[in-house]
Amino acid sequence: MFLFRSLTAVTALLVVFLLPTTPADASAPLRVHAASRGKFIGAALATSPLANESQYRTIAATEFSQVTAENAMKWDSTEPSQGQFNFSGADQIVTFATQNNQQVHGHTLVWHSQTPGWVQSLGATAMRSAMQNHISNVVGHYANNATVTSWDVVNEVFDDNGNMRTSFWYNTLGQSYIADAFRAARAADSNARLCINDYNVEGINAKSTAMYNLVSSLRQQGVPVDCVGFQGHLAIQYGFPSQVQQNMQRFADLGVQVRVTELDVRMIMPRDSTKDTTQATYYRDVVNACLAVTACAGITIWGFTDKYSWVPDTFSGQGAALIYDASYQQKPAYTAVHDALAGGTSTDTTPPTTPGTPAASNVTANSATLTWTASTDSGGSGLAGYNVYREQGSTDPQLGQSTTASITLTGLSAATQYQVYVRARDGAGNLSANSALATFTTTTGGGGGGPCTATGTVQTQWAGGYVVQPVTVTNTGSSTINGWTVTFTLPAGHTLSGSWNATLTSSGQTITAKNLGYNGTLAPAASTTFGFQVSRPSGDTATPSGYTCASP
Ligand code: G3I
Repeated sequence: MFLFRSLTAVTALLVVFLLPTTPADASAPLRVHAASRGKFIGAALATSPLANESQYRTIAATEFSQVTAENAMKWDSTEPSQGQFNFSGADQIVTFATQNNQQVHGHTLVWHSQTPGWVQSLGATAMRSAMQNHISNVVGHYANNATVTSWDVVNEVFDDNGNMRTSFWYNTLGQSYIADAFRAARAADSNARLCINDYNVEGINAKSTAMYNLVSSLRQQGVPVDCVGFQGHLAIQYGFPSQVQQNMQRFADLGVQVRVTELDVRMIMPRDSTKDTTQATYYRDVVNACLAVTACAGITIWGFTDKYSWVPDTFSGQGAALIYDASYQQKPAYTAVHDALAGGTSTDTTPPTTPGTPAASNVTANSATLTWTASTDSGGSGLAGYNVYREQGSTDPQLGQSTTASITLTGLSAATQYQVYVRARDGAGNLSANSALATFTTTTGGGGGGPCTATGTVQTQWAGGYVVQPVTVTNTGSSTINGWTVTFTLPAGHTLSGSWNATLTSSGQTITAKNLGYNGTLAPAASTTFGFQVSRPSGDTATPSGYTCASP
């Protein structure tokens, strides 16, 4: 099936790239523009209007390339009584999607809500095996179905402060249920993309940082978490979350796919044109954040018409959260999503120039710095950054992304030869030709030097500041270290404005970063990361350097 899915994806790409090079018709549906940007655009679907309303069906089929069952794949629908599986609603949605060449994201396997009482009252052993059995049957039901490509394995495991939610799952099984759920899903379908999904994690905040730490630690333990879903239930009265793109990127840097899974933007009723305009900018900004992050696969809107939305039932006096009104008329939010997706397609089809040959330096057992001569872009959308790939024959994995003509690759294997090349990317998503190859070999590790090293990468910067993410701390010694301290110097006038995954203290311009409880222990060659944000005088382009690492 993996081959089948890959061929389908390749075919889709070929269709996109081999069609006549005329830009997509500006009035084309959302899915056409999204495909030309390499993203999906999806909607959550409800079974009743799908069966009964042709207008609902037509829009769902025409505008979207991906669908999620709003309720039909949840536990109370698929296994209402123990061992009695019912896929009628779920199959209805999957059949519709297959007919319309859409992917289905399975939602959701393990959640504290919409789970029958019989599950909640089980003891620990029975609950764990009921969970594994549920996952095995539900994922297994679609394992040979090329339409269902991904799953929300666990949903909303955190409370609003970023602590583990004290759900019946957690109270009965402890945190281990999360890893067990992912392992059961992988066992049931080795090709499906497995996601963790939550709300209020769209920007950088305590909850999203807790989720970041969990995903990082699960992946370090080999738990098969492939993807992170940001639900995106926004409200114009609460403001747009801060640093959405940077947040997506920090997760992407862990090696996972990211996606917006349940986007809607509610307002206090009644609707008016000012609120509609604000709502449209929220939709636009979420789409643009996803477009700017290569690892963002796409965006699912939680419904599409205000006729069917969960919002008024949950938030009294609020509503109008979707991109069509209750009479199936497109709202400004539709236009905003459309224009954002179409943004790069109609004008710029000229790729940037080919980057110079990368030069490798500071090669350690797990990391290497590459520097190259910058590309230029004349197509109009501007140079957006670079992708770095490992040459491996038929499929070359992407090792990292950078917005400058340099990158520090981390997480490399020790004593291994790497051949790498760089492609430049413009704002419309055009990729340059491959640079010439650079070849380097990582060291064996354990051979002297300090007990640890630290390298920092500027992930994003703007006139008044920047984010350094990741700072990668690597144990280069031959024995396990228990605790590390990284020091570095901020340029004059720069001040720390936030950090994650380490405790940072300032003394003048000298910053000392110490590990937290969960990331201080590093086996030989193991790495961990932290990050921080800095404010600087407008116009100053300096960034810190000279990271040193020590361990007791
Ligand atoms: O199907 C029954 C129907 O038979 C009954 O007459 C009616 C009476 O209330 O209820 C119907 O079930 C409702 C179901 O939606 C289907 O319409 C439930 O009461 C209602 O609670 C349920 O709400 C869903 C909600 O999840 C439950 O937590 C919403 O439709 C759905 O949009 C919402 O989706 C969640 C995501 O799964 C996870 N992220 C947040 C998102 C919004 O809350």
